[in-house]
Amino acid sequence: MRAFVAEKGESEVQRGLRDLDAGELGEGDVLVRVEYSSVNYKDALATSAKGGAAKISPLVPGIDLAGTVEEAPEGASVSPGDSVLAHGYDLGVAHHGGYAESARVPGEWIVALPEGLSAREAMTIGTAGYTAARSVIALQNHGLEAGDGPVLVTGASGGLGSMAVAMLAATGHHVVASSGKEDEAGWLHALGAAEVIGREEAAGDSSRPLESERWAGAVDCVGGETLAGVLRALRAGAAVAASGNTGGMKVPTTVLPFILRGVSLIGIDSVNTPIEERTRTWQRLATDLRPPALDDLVSREISLDEVDEALEAILAGKLRGRTVVRVSG
Ligand SMILES: NC(=O)c1ccc[n+]([C@@H]2O[C@H](COP(=O)([O-])OP(=O)(O)OC[C@H]3O[C@@H](n4cnc5c(N)ncnc54)[C@H](OP(=O)(O)O)[C@@H]3O)[C@@H](O)[C@H]2O)c1
Repeated sequence: MRAFVAEKGESEVQRGLRDLDAGELGEGDVLVRVEYSSVNYKDALATSAKGGAAKISPLVPGIDLAGTVEEAPEGASVSPGDSVLAHGYDLGVAHHGGYAESARVPGEWIVALPEGLSAREAMTIGTAGYTAARSVIALQNHGLEAGDGPVLVTGASGGLGSMAVAMLAATGHHVVASSGKEDEAGWLHALGAAEVIGREEAAGDSSRPLESERWAGAVDCVGGETLAGVLRALRAGAAVAASGNTGGMKVPTTVLPFILRGVSLIGIDSVNTPIEERTRTWQRLATDLRPPALDDLVSREISLDEVDEALEAILAGKLRGRTVVRVSG
């Protein structure tokens, strides 16, 4: 089968297409014919020397996949012919992932494709959309309701950010999208953003410990100075759901937003969610949290031959929205 493989060398990672035997797919009791995967920032981290996310070498990257079950043991929760998806856990970092025509996956990582979602739509959502949904659900559980005021989304033109913009807007929030890409303002408005601001405005004034109370809630996938700025400008009692680090790992904050305004920093981890909760979140992604115009979130559909270039582009912060990978079918 055709596969895109990343292999660590002395100082760099060699990436390219290879033929793999079924015996090289690794452990797992369910064999899936992969129809679609997608390109996420973490895929670039797993396939670049500096990223360091890969735990095995050689590795078939691809942290998410959707397709059809070809083999499953008797008594498993899925059967041959079922449409399924998988992401998180070790997929695409310590276990071969979605960038190959077949994947062998432990049955306990598998989610049956919810009714109403095709494999392509599931990978349009992918890990980015799933993480956006977990962020939105976390803010809702914290008490955020439509009509509460402006909700900031940082890194808004990226995969996770654009999904969060679309979901929050569709659930009635006044969404403020922060983006470093001025020319994507029109697209972000079309996804539902009420306002589009620059990255500098979202990061605010780092010389001050607190700024005017502005955000009723926030979804942050950038981290670094941006997350520190979001914390300084959250309204009293509000929360930010933080999931990413494209803007840096260190968050230079003081304790004042926490102890004077009672704000909350909620960490979002899409990798280790228990499978029952993951399945419930996908049910919501197929219903009330489904972005209304899913196709508008896809900027490119690519083949395995084009994955290498897309990984470079996402690492450089140059991709817009979601890039889906048509693997077979
Ligand atoms: N916690 C989890 O389980 C989880 C799951 C999925 C993703 N993530 C993380 O979430 C982040 C986003 O992932 P993604 O796949 O959506 O990536 P993406 O498509 O590349 O989106 C990231 C966005 O961040 C902004 N950005 C890039 N470089 C920046 C910089 N130097 N300073 C400030 N902003 C910058 C850009 O948006 P603008 O140009 O619009 O500003 C970019 O589009 C990544 O850090 C990823 O690892 C975490």
